[in-house]
Amino acid sequence: MKIINIVGARPNFMKIAPIMAEYKKSNRIEALLVHTGQHYDEKMSDLFFHQLGIPKPDVNLEVGSNSHACQTAEIMKAFEPVALEHKPDVVLVVGDVNSTIACGLVAVKLGVKLVHVEAGLRSFDRSMPEEINRVLTDAISDLLFCTEQSGVDNLRREGIPGEKIFLVGNVMIDTLLKNRAKAATSNVLSQFNLDSNGFAVLTLHRPANVDDPVTFSRILDALEIIQNDMPVIFPIHPRARKNLSSWSLGERIKKLPNLRLIEPLGYLDFLKLMSSAKLVLTDSGGIQEETTILKIPCLTLRENTERPITTQVGSNRVVGTDTDKIIETYRQVVDGGWCEPQIPSLWDGHAAERIVKILLDKL
Ligand code: UD1
Repeated sequence: MKIINIVGARPNFMKIAPIMAEYKKSNRIEALLVHTGQHYDEKMSDLFFHQLGIPKPDVNLEVGSNSHACQTAEIMKAFEPVALEHKPDVVLVVGDVNSTIACGLVAVKLGVKLVHVEAGLRSFDRSMPEEINRVLTDAISDLLFCTEQSGVDNLRREGIPGEKIFLVGNVMIDTLLKNRAKAATSNVLSQFNLDSNGFAVLTLHRPANVDDPVTFSRILDALEIIQNDMPVIFPIHPRARKNLSSWSLGERIKKLPNLRLIEPLGYLDFLKLMSSAKLVLTDSGGIQEETTILKIPCLTLRENTERPITTQVGSNRVVGTDTDKIIETYRQVVDGGWCEPQIPSLWDGHAAERIVKILLDKL
């Protein structure tokens, strides 16, 4: 069975790593890796391949950044000849980025079976580009692998036949568990002069937060108070950095000594940073899941989450972007109003194993 696997953006890399490793255990699978080039900076891409032992992509489409329509179209135009040349039996896509839907569409239009890993997650917020990518990719997939029960329920509600859907656990957590010990040896705390459990980590990259100066400013009002208590480490996404440099908010941040903007970190350093933090504030999806396993309180700076299991087990609080609400929840968490979460079912490091076994059985 020839499988073309697609990656494009940073959160895809930790999802594909365990699947690529698992294929090697079967002599019935020929796996190719295609990188669309959606993310291309060394710190957003190459570093992850290196640290996670992902094989060098067989093909890099090198599409780079663009508007949504152009980026999606460029990926489709560049991927179609690759699919025609290699004639895969299966295209496997992960997550919810533009590369996911673009390559998914190319595959099904060529009559190639499509497999979606991390299917069924729904924020029910169609203003999020990722929600559109999720709904559309799921609608055209032949096999759908879910990380949590809500994913299965959403897909069933949307009319996807039960025999296409599998609850397998979380490949991102496979990668976390595999790399945890290695990450423990990172010197990132001394590099930034931090005490374990004495700082907060912040990540922001969603357009709703970082493309809107009013929302960004509300979040900043909360951060100004938090950074009076403890350092807030902010590995900044290129998208947020670009915006800040063109707004006066950039000047305001420079006046907050304990809000520390740093370059994006590699996987191992970031894992160590999260594991050692007092709390994490984020608008990322994956980080809500990773903090659940690490048992670190997570405040999600969005109005919703497509990963409700993280709130049900108690690690994640969806606080939105209202300054008072962020501060109120922050105080509750640091004053002990946070209990250790349960581990979601099947988040045990064996999701990729289950996926590859099902691929071999069903296809
Ligand atoms: C994308 C995904 C998002 C995912 C995020 C992780 C979509 C719709 N969004 O958002 O779901 O959570 O990746 O980071 O697919 N840039 C660089 N260097 C890079 C990559 C991007 O400088 O290597 C800058 C460019 O200015 C670009 C901007 O970041 O315009 C945004 O990149 P893009 O890939 O469009 O979306 P992300 O915000 O990264």
